[in-house]
Amino acid sequence: MTKYISIADAISRGKGKVAVRGWVSRSRGSNKMKFIVLRDVTNIIQVVLKREKFEKQWDEIDKLQIESSVEIVGIIKPDKRAPTGYEIDASEFKLVGQADEFPLNKDSTEGAQADKRHLHLRSRRMIAIMKIRSRYVQAREEFFIKEGFYRFDTPILQPTQSEGGSTVFEVKYYNHKSYLAQTWQLYGEAAIFFLEKVYNMGPTFRAEKSNTSRHLSEFWMAETEVAWWKLPEITEFAKKEIKYCIETVAKDCKQEFEILGVDTKKLLVIAKKKWPTIKYREALDILKKKDKLNVKFGKDLRTIEEQKLMQHFDTPVVVTHYPREVMAFYKPADPKFSDEALCFDMLAPKCGLEIVGGSERSLDIKDMSERLKKDKENPKDYQFYFDLREYGSVPHSGYGVGVERVIQWICNLDSIKDTIGFPRTMNRFTP
Ligand code: 4AD
Ligand code: MG
Repeated sequence: MTKYISIADAISRGKGKVAVRGWVSRSRGSNKMKFIVLRDVTNIIQVVLKREKFEKQWDEIDKLQIESSVEIVGIIKPDKRAPTGYEIDASEFKLVGQADEFPLNKDSTEGAQADKRHLHLRSRRMIAIMKIRSRYVQAREEFFIKEGFYRFDTPILQPTQSEGGSTVFEVKYYNHKSYLAQTWQLYGEAAIFFLEKVYNMGPTFRAEKSNTSRHLSEFWMAETEVAWWKLPEITEFAKKEIKYCIETVAKDCKQEFEILGVDTKKLLVIAKKKWPTIKYREALDILKKKDKLNVKFGKDLRTIEEQKLMQHFDTPVVVTHYPREVMAFYKPADPKFSDEALCFDMLAPKCGLEIVGGSERSLDIKDMSERLKKDKENPKDYQFYFDLREYGSVPHSGYGVGVERVIQWICNLDSIKDTIGFPRTMNRFTP
């Protein structure tokens, strides 16, 4: 039986007879000789098929469409003109799965690519992004194992909103109303009383009613919650997590970043630097002094302000103490400055993407009840959450990383849609 090896392994052998299989990503040539570029998960390689060796199969080879799946046996050797520096001179060819004329090419519109997302994902660029995403998530898992955390999984169908009613998706739950998770946090908080240091990553839903390059309706939030820690500890830990993950992917996904035109050396430099922590009020000062932008205390930062601010930094920055008024009900006031919350965002350099959001958690049931009422919520629905404050309450804090946002930042992508296999936005939930 033929022993197939990966294209990467064939290239590292560099000579002799090899058997490879995969999909045709390009095909050109004359009626004497065809050059195809074959793709598998590991790499691409040029294959030459000479008519003299394949007279009987020539018709099939001549009509070969992009994305047909094939098996090839042949002699591999270095060839400077080939895209990855090697070429296989084929002696055996087998068409495994014929392809129709491929509906996408380099001139396809964004809409056409989105309609055929399942096929568009096979492009070299998308494969590179999907590999980086996969490695990122694996690295994060490694990080939390090393740090001695427990993974704690929680329901996606939840009885209440948690991050504001305006973006919640309602789902019929038998004869009740339920909501798709806007965050894992409230349940994560329940777990710190017995697991102390917990993390998770799960699908998260926000009915974002505008189409932006940084919002999805369904995304993956990577969350963490820790007993006893306060703002200084949790913000430093968030930096440590992101640094570990980007350093790992930069080292392990060099080839993929190269396809995207991203210099991994720069990511490694960022991971080694100290990342500043500033207060929201300091951020406003920077915007005023350096950008002549007057933002009044009391508002969340808008995209344009985040972008302007982060032009002045070459690493992520943690911004703390946002105005409490505009923050979620569970974010406590700073005891010294009651209009500021003990919370933080982490913003990415240059693009200004908010990649992390977190806070200490309020322990004040009365205050949270009042704030929920202001949001037209019934505090009674949050009794389980308040119970946590009634039975051995401890200070605790946590945060959520927007996985797609981090991938968008490190891959330098214009749109968040390309960071996830099948994006869900206000305008699209198919295929
Ligand atoms: O800042 P957010 O809303 O924080 C929370 O939900 C907290 N409960 C997390 C916690 O403390 N455990 O969301 C966290 C992060 C944001 O910083 C952003 O990176 C990402 O999730 N995010 C989105 N990513 C893509 N599309 C959206 N619509 C997003 N909304 C938030
Ligand atoms: Mg936020």
